[in-house]
Amino acid sequence: MSVAKPLPHDAAKLHVTGTARYIDDIPVPADCLHLAFGLSTIAKGRITAMDLDAVRNSPGVVDVLTADDLPAENDVSPSIHDEPLLSDGSVHYLGQPLFLVAATSHRAARVAASKGDVTYDEEEALLTVEAALQANSRFEDGPRIYSKGDAAAAIDGAARMVEGSFDLGGQEHFYLESQAAMAMPQESGDVLVASSTQHPTEIQHKVADGLGVPMHSVRVETRRMGGGFGGKESQGNALAVSCAIVAVKTGRAAKMRYDRDDDMVITGKRHAFKISYRAGFDEEGHLQGVEFLHLVNCGWAQDLSLPVADRAMLHADNAYAIPAIRIESHRLKTNLQSFTAYRGFGGPQGMVGIERVMDHVAHDLGIDPVELRKRNYYDAPDNRVRADNTTPYGQEVIDFELHGMTDKLLDTSNYATRKAEIAEWNAKNDRLKRGIAFSPVKFGISFTLTHLNQAGALVHIYQDGSVHLNHGGTEMGQGLFQKVAQVAASRFGIGMHLVKITATDTAKVPNTSATAASSGADLNGMAVKVACDTLRDRMAAYLSEQHQCDAASVRFEGGNVHVGENVIPFEKAAAQCYQGRISLSATGFYKTPKLKWDRIKGEGRPFFYFSYGAAITEVVTDKLTGEYRILRTDILHDAGATLNPVLDIGQVEGAYVQGAGWLTTEELVWNDKGRLATHAPSTYKIPACSDRPDVFNVDLWDGKNREDTIYRSKAVGEPPFNLGISAWLALSDAVGAYGDAYPAINAPATSEEVWRSIRRVSDGV
Ligand code: MTE
Ligand code: MOS
Repeated sequence: MSVAKPLPHDAAKLHVTGTARYIDDIPVPADCLHLAFGLSTIAKGRITAMDLDAVRNSPGVVDVLTADDLPAENDVSPSIHDEPLLSDGSVHYLGQPLFLVAATSHRAARVAASKGDVTYDEEEALLTVEAALQANSRFEDGPRIYSKGDAAAAIDGAARMVEGSFDLGGQEHFYLESQAAMAMPQESGDVLVASSTQHPTEIQHKVADGLGVPMHSVRVETRRMGGGFGGKESQGNALAVSCAIVAVKTGRAAKMRYDRDDDMVITGKRHAFKISYRAGFDEEGHLQGVEFLHLVNCGWAQDLSLPVADRAMLHADNAYAIPAIRIESHRLKTNLQSFTAYRGFGGPQGMVGIERVMDHVAHDLGIDPVELRKRNYYDAPDNRVRADNTTPYGQEVIDFELHGMTDKLLDTSNYATRKAEIAEWNAKNDRLKRGIAFSPVKFGISFTLTHLNQAGALVHIYQDGSVHLNHGGTEMGQGLFQKVAQVAASRFGIGMHLVKITATDTAKVPNTSATAASSGADLNGMAVKVACDTLRDRMAAYLSEQHQCDAASVRFEGGNVHVGENVIPFEKAAAQCYQGRISLSATGFYKTPKLKWDRIKGEGRPFFYFSYGAAITEVVTDKLTGEYRILRTDILHDAGATLNPVLDIGQVEGAYVQGAGWLTTEELVWNDKGRLATHAPSTYKIPACSDRPDVFNVDLWDGKNREDTIYRSKAVGEPPFNLGISAWLALSDAVGAYGDAYPAINAPATSEEVWRSIRRVSDGV
C-alpha cells in the first residue's frame, strides 16, 4: 500500500531541475499583453486629478484602464465588497492600485505604470492599532468577546497575579513565486485563467463578477504555486481579474506578475497584534483566571480579518485548561495593506499570548516553565481528573496527546541535564548567555466557517488501467498531491506510476474551498477515497458477476484484482470493465462531520479534532550586540497515522523555521507616512539556510487520529508553525539570565529588541 510510505514530493525532480512549470513558465500565446498597476503614493486621501498621458504615451503601451473603464463590478474582496480593483477616487493605503497598464512586455508595463501624474487631497492616515482604536476605526460594530466563567473575579481572588502588554509583529509571506496570473480569451466572451492561487473557485467567482458573466463562462486552472502560505487565498484576485478584463476587452492573452517589491507593497501580510494580559494563579502555578485584550491590525479592507481574529481567540488557551478566561478582540481598520491569511490564520497570535503568560508566571514563581505548563495541561483521555476539560468555547478536549509527547521530548532532548549545564555555563559568562525553552501546540483542525469543510474529487480509469486523478485541493509545495495520489493508489492496490496527478481545474471539480486551514489532505483525501471506492464497487460488481463469485470478496491489491480464484492485473481488469460497458469515471464528495459552531457567541465545536506538537529550542545571545543564534531544536510532532512521513517532516521543519523567523528576524517597518520601508529581501530578513538550528532533531509522534480521518492521519500544514514560539521563549530565557527583572520581550525579537531587553534586564533601562 502506498499510504504511509516515505515517497518524495511528486514534483521533487521537476523542482530541482528547474522544470516544474509555474505561471511565468507557461509558453505565452502570440501577442500576449503584460500588465502592471500604477500605485498610490499616499496612505489616505482622495484623488483630485489623475493625468495618465505620459503613461499612455510610454513605449509599448496598448491600453490604460481606470475604475471608469471596468466592464462590471469594481471589487476583488473575498468578503464584503470593500476592495475596489482600481481606486474609486479614494485612497486607503500607500501602494493601492489606481490604474492598470497593458503593454507589450512586462518591463514596458512597469515603466509606464510609474509615469502617472496623480494629485491628491491627502488626509491623516491611521497607521497603528492605538490610533485606530482612538478613532474607533474598526470592522464589526464593537469588540468580539469570548468568555468562560468570571475571569476578573478569579484573577482578583488569586494568590498571585502578573500583567503585561507586548507588540507582536506581522509577517511577509515571501512565497518564492510572487503573485501571478494569465488569462486566455475564448469564444463568446469566455475566459480561461491560469492562476497561482490557493483558491481557484474564488478566482473564478471574482473574475465572473469582474466581467459581469456567470461562473460557467470562466475556467480556472492551477497546477502549482511556488508557495502560498495563506498569501494566495485572496491576494491573487486582483491579478486574475485584471488579466481577464484585458483579455476579453482586447481579444489577446494577458499576463500579470508582481515584481517582488510591488508584491510586498501591494499585498496583505500576517496581522500584527498588540496583546495585553492579566493572569491570576496560585503558589503552585495553577492558572485560575486569564484576561486577554487583542488589538488586531487588519489594514484597510476586511478581507479574511474576522475569521483570522476569531481563530486567534480560539487559540488563546493553547494547551491549557483555564477555569476562567475572557478574550476581547478589536478588529481595527488602518491605512496599511489589508492583512490576510498566513499559516496558522491567527492561531499563532493567540498562542503567543498564552505562552507569554506562561513564561511570565514561571519567571514570577521561579519554577521550571515546563513543569508549570504540565500542571495546567488539559487532561489526557485515559487520565481524566478535571471536572471540566473543555476549551473556553465549550469544546470538550478528548484527544489531548501532550502529556506523553512532552515526557518523551524532555527525555530525547535531554532537557533537564542541558538546563542545568546552561545555568552553570551562564554563571561563568557575562557577555554571552544561553537560553532554553519548551513550547507545546494544540491546533484546531477545520475551517471555522463550517460550510467550507467540504471537498470534491473526479477520478477516471482509462481502458489501459491508468488513472487520472483530480480534486479541489491545490499544490503549493506542501505535498498534498502526492499524499492524495497515495490514497488513490492504495484504494486500487496499484503502483504510483499508474496514477496521474493533474492540475486543479474548476471545470473538473466545482465549488471548492481554498486549500487552507491545513485541511487539504483531510478533505480531498476523503473525497478521492469516495470516488475510488465507487469505481472499485462498480468494477467488483461486474467482475464478480463474470467470474461467478461474491462481489464483497473482490480485493484490489498488489497491482491485481482478486476475483474468486482469478488474479487479474489491474490494467486487464480495467479493459474488461470497459468492454463490459462499465462507467470508469466517478466523482467523490466529503464533508467533515460533527461540526456545530456559533462564531458570534463563541460556542460549540468548531474543530473536528486537534493536532499537537512540542518543541525545545536552545539559543545563545550576545550582550554587546543583541545578536543571537539558534543552537539546537528538538521537535516531536503529531501527524496522526502519517500519510507520508518524509513530507510531514518536511512540513514540520519548514513550519518551525518560518515560525521562528516571524518571532525573531522578520520585521516589517512602515515610515510615518505609511510607506513600507522593508519591501525587499535587502531590508526584510527571512531565515536563510544558515539560520536554521545547528542541531535540528525532528520526529513524528507515533499515534493515530482518534477521529475517523483519512487513514487516521492528521493535518500537518499549519500546526508546527507554532513550534517557532519556543525560539522566542528561549531568547526570553537567555535575556533573563542577564539580570533579575522579567525580560518582557516584544516580537519580533530582532537583535535590536534583544539588545534593548538585555539593557532593561541588566541595567534597568
Ligand atoms: N508548505 C509549503 N511548502 N508551501 C506553502 O505554501 N502553506 C501552508 C502549509 N504548508 C504552505 C505549506 C499553509 S498556510 C497551509 S493552510 C497548508 O500548507 C495548506 O495545505 P494543506 O491543507 O494541504 O496542508
Ligand atoms: Mo493557510 S493560512 O490556512 O492558507
